[in-house]
Amino acid sequence: MVTARITATVPTVPPPAPNFTSRYLKSHLGFGVPAFQFGRRSYHYPIIFSTREDPSSSSRALAVSEISKLVEEFDPEISLERASTPPSSWYTDPQFYRFELDRVFYGGWQAVGYSDQIKDSRDFFTGRLGEVEFVVCRDDNGKVQAFHNVCSHHASILASGNGKKSCFVCPYHGWTYSLSGSLLKATRMTGIENFDLNEMGLKPLRVAVWGPFVLLKVAQTTLSQEEVETDGAVAIEWLGTSVGRLSQGGVDSPLSFICRREYTIDCNWKVFCDNYLDGGYHVPYAHKGLMSGLDLETYSTTLFERVSIQECGGGSKAGEDGFDRLGSKALYAFIYPNFMINRYGPWMDTNLVLPLGPRKCKVVFDYFLDPSLKDDEDFIKRSLEESERVQMEDVVLCQNVQRGLESPAYDKGRYALVEKAMHHFHSLLNHNLKL
Ligand code: FES
Ligand SMILES: [Fe+2]
Repeated sequence: MVTARITATVPTVPPPAPNFTSRYLKSHLGFGVPAFQFGRRSYHYPIIFSTREDPSSSSRALAVSEISKLVEEFDPEISLERASTPPSSWYTDPQFYRFELDRVFYGGWQAVGYSDQIKDSRDFFTGRLGEVEFVVCRDDNGKVQAFHNVCSHHASILASGNGKKSCFVCPYHGWTYSLSGSLLKATRMTGIENFDLNEMGLKPLRVAVWGPFVLLKVAQTTLSQEEVETDGAVAIEWLGTSVGRLSQGGVDSPLSFICRREYTIDCNWKVFCDNYLDGGYHVPYAHKGLMSGLDLETYSTTLFERVSIQECGGGSKAGEDGFDRLGSKALYAFIYPNFMINRYGPWMDTNLVLPLGPRKCKVVFDYFLDPSLKDDEDFIKRSLEESERVQMEDVVLCQNVQRGLESPAYDKGRYALVEKAMHHFHSLLNHNLKL
């Protein structure tokens, strides 16, 4: 088993100049509330939802107290046997959604890509997390860097897609940035006063690599530029004590990237997560084709700090016709808040659930395969077709749940015992969102 290689970097680009006025960083510095302590550091979350909709402080307080009431409607102290699920407004309310972006998505480490995408110097990829546009690259010194993908001139998106670049040239007016974020050239700025190239570089984001995954954190920290965020701290914060179990399960073993599939689903991002976390409850009813490949009697769920791992043995018919996509054991790891790692047979697929609004999300599936099978086109084609079928069944389930959540007939539901990973997820959300 290959041990996970963890690297973490802190941004080397100087912090923003005092006159920097982007709404995002202003809210970090001005309105951010200390959300939690991690070691010696405290992190600040921006409260974007209230500053945008009404900047007056009394309205902001009202919005916060309303959200706070909503958060408290789910009490993690009540055991699963007696608990009700969170109210449907967690899945439909636009203010709750905005608050969630700030607290849940910008506050912790998020998986955003895989390390092969930035294998060599000058490789880069871009993406969007909530309202944060980002670019991740490997600079000329081999260091992994991440920035807000926004030009300092008039805010154009700077880089698009992925690939290789020696510098980032803005497509709008040609301002040019190095891969370590500094502004190299600002075109036609001669004669402009109080203009310092050094203050106009790209705004940095925190980035780390664990095994095959690239992680990003949006929230700023009080960490000084000299302090180094240790590899261990990143791994512990993201995976806690599940690291060993995940390594054992082969999630960081060297696999070949095969392809990416994306699904846009008309449901809140948590509906997709809940569906994933029901302990196989829906499989016999909604995935009849998948059932024969799994032995649901062996289904087990283990909870860690921010991770839950569901495991299931292979079914009696697994591999019967010589086609064995699932193998003898499947491991489904959920990493709070929105990342799933599925390891089965020679395959691994990851599902990244990206919120696109209170009622819409996008799920990015990345498929990885044991290198010995990467040229077996028939096996790959059949496996992807089978996976796609299961995925489309889940899309229908999730969209139906969202429609039900919108109905005045429903507010809260109950858990079954097998749904303990879902209860764990809701408890983590409550903890994360509590003021
Ligand atoms: S917006 Fe980028 S150069 Fe003008
Ligand atoms: Fe499913």
